[in-house]
Amino acid sequence: MRSIDWNDESKTVIMIDQTLLPGEYKVIECKTLSTLCEAISSLRVRGAPALGAAGGFGIALAATLSSAASMDALVKDLEVAAATIKATRPTAVNLAWAVDRVMHAIQDAYNVDGIRDVTIEEAMRIADEDVIINKKLGEYGAKLLDDGDTVMTHCNAGKMACVDWGTALGVIRSAVLAGKEINVIACETRPLNQGGRITTWELMQDNIPVKLITDSMSGHVMRKGMVDKVIVGADRITEDVVFNKIGTYTHSVIAKEHEVPFYVAAPVSTFDFDGWEESVKIELRDPDELRFFGKEQLAPIDVDVYNPAFDATPMENISAIITENGIFEPPFLLDEVKM
Ligand code: MRU
Repeated sequence: MRSIDWNDESKTVIMIDQTLLPGEYKVIECKTLSTLCEAISSLRVRGAPALGAAGGFGIALAATLSSAASMDALVKDLEVAAATIKATRPTAVNLAWAVDRVMHAIQDAYNVDGIRDVTIEEAMRIADEDVIINKKLGEYGAKLLDDGDTVMTHCNAGKMACVDWGTALGVIRSAVLAGKEINVIACETRPLNQGGRITTWELMQDNIPVKLITDSMSGHVMRKGMVDKVIVGADRITEDVVFNKIGTYTHSVIAKEHEVPFYVAAPVSTFDFDGWEESVKIELRDPDELRFFGKEQLAPIDVDVYNPAFDATPMENISAIITENGIFEPPFLLDEVKM
């Protein structure tokens, strides 16, 4: 199934619980807005495009559950829901983008039932489009990969981070589909190990060769000449930087030092055309993510912790940005990306 979907019979949001992977594959159902918001905050659903789908479905869920009898009252309920959903994770711009898109779509509705229908239709459209966009982006990006390449990636920018197919892993999937042999090096991605747990799991299911390394090994493998290209996803792209999972910046510096091309794969919905590095809030997560791994204590319980979920990579470290509208190279003129 898709990483996240709308169940039209029960009018609920269903998703694969990514916190349990790879040990357990479990589909959970969010019947209320608070369970959906908890699922977003605790990364049961994660990855910028998947968060976009979650945001859209969140408004559909709120519209379905609201007992408002007038259009004004329903719109007010949805505005509250929109603010609640957006507050769950501030950095990945797709979440707010999708919520705003569904909220905008309801302007075309004529009555309360019409609003409810529009929220579901628009949220479904966002999810369906995500799959089409990733495949298109994948086809463009696949041209940058050569037969026999070893590609390093960070975090999980695969089908679990999107509705399906993936961005960075979508490029790899498309290259493999085109008959190229691609080997992947997956960085573990501390502290929540999306690379070790999810990227490896996804690629092994597709029989794409993958080798797992710790994040701190990226310098070693690039110095050894073991990496031909790096491809990562993005949570938000502003005119000056690319925000992505913490550790991405470090890999970009090492890649530049060793002249390894560093590619970012992301849909246009990940661009924040009005933003810049300092205008964006980087999510700070629970210190216990570093003090514990599951129930296992890894550090003194009262140790002071700094745990930003994302970092910013300056454009000068990036060789190309792959989108559904094509491949963009320096200087990155964001207006050209919009098309
Ligand atoms: O905290 P996460 O797991 O939501 O972070 C995900 C990432 O940083 C991904 O690399 C990014 O969202 C791109 S997903 C196609």
